[in-house]
Amino acid sequence: MDGIDTLRGKYLESITGAGDESALEEIRLAALGKKGEISLKMRELGKMTPEERQTTGAALNRLKDELDAALRARKTSLADAALDERLRSEWLDVTLPSRPRRFGTIHPVSQVMEELTAIFADMGFSVAEGPQVESDWYNFDALNIPPEHPARQEHDTFFMHRAEGDNRPPHVLRTHTSPVQIRALEANGAPIRVIAPGRVYRMDMDQTHTPMFHQVEGLAIDKGISMANLKWVLEEFCRAFFEVPSVELRFRASHFPFTEPSAEVDIRCSWVNGQLKIGEGDSWMEILGSGMVHPKVLQAAGVDPSKWQGFAFGMGIDRIAMLKYGIPDLRAFFESDLRWLRHYGFAALDMPDLAGGLSR
Ligand code: PHE
Repeated sequence: MDGIDTLRGKYLESITGAGDESALEEIRLAALGKKGEISLKMRELGKMTPEERQTTGAALNRLKDELDAALRARKTSLADAALDERLRSEWLDVTLPSRPRRFGTIHPVSQVMEELTAIFADMGFSVAEGPQVESDWYNFDALNIPPEHPARQEHDTFFMHRAEGDNRPPHVLRTHTSPVQIRALEANGAPIRVIAPGRVYRMDMDQTHTPMFHQVEGLAIDKGISMANLKWVLEEFCRAFFEVPSVELRFRASHFPFTEPSAEVDIRCSWVNGQLKIGEGDSWMEILGSGMVHPKVLQAAGVDPSKWQGFAFGMGIDRIAMLKYGIPDLRAFFESDLRWLRHYGFAALDMPDLAGGLSR
């Protein structure tokens, strides 16, 4: 019996001192495993007298149960301690700011379209649209550019494919936004005040030309509209758009088949150390073509030219974006270089309005 008490003391002590589950398992094997000390003691029972066997056997069974319970209790407390330790060491500060994430930017052309739409909307112009693949009639004939007119050559037109045996004039990628004048007049009649921003196409590629670029068309038809109204609208627009207190525009006599008289418009500016300044200086920069809508154009759109008249203009959007935001190379606009887009792009919520960013 002495031996049993010694075993009991030894194992209970080592169970209390075990530092982890594998140490506990070792103790279990050493005591209760097949070749464990208590199992060996059980085997000795056979050599004992029946009386001895009864008391020793019962004592050994009690010891076995006691050690079993002690092992299980220690295992539980070790697991609890391990969990407490993990809870102490593995923690997150959920109030930390998240990692910075890149957001996309608004392309300068989109930004400028929003800006000019806001400015012209304030002057009573709404937005009209037309297709980029346009019929020969809308792009040329209706604008007083008949088939043999030399202006057709100047447009470096992209022509659409025609099915064999189709002898109609081929459709074109619109070479300007002027066909939207016809479409808007057909849809609404007069009076009308619209702008039509959008893509146009010409077969041209160098530092200042890309085969696709953007224009905004302006059209105002009413009774008694004159060149003076055109000049005021353009000056108002330039002042608001370039955010300068005053601008000076120069109207140069020009020729377009769809306007009479016609004028190209330059804006006064200066170049100082490669930096462009609008509104002052000795240089002039051409920004648009304009004029009084030709009676034949009104007629082609179903509007009576003896009752109605007005002005139209066509302005290069990419050009005025370059001027306003100091962007040197037009071709970079359409290369989709992420570095360029991040540098020149605008935040998504930087929406232009006349009360905020744009001044009047
Ligand atoms: N459509 C002309 C162009 O593309 C511009 C223009 C528009 C001129 C309206 C006069 C009136 O060059």
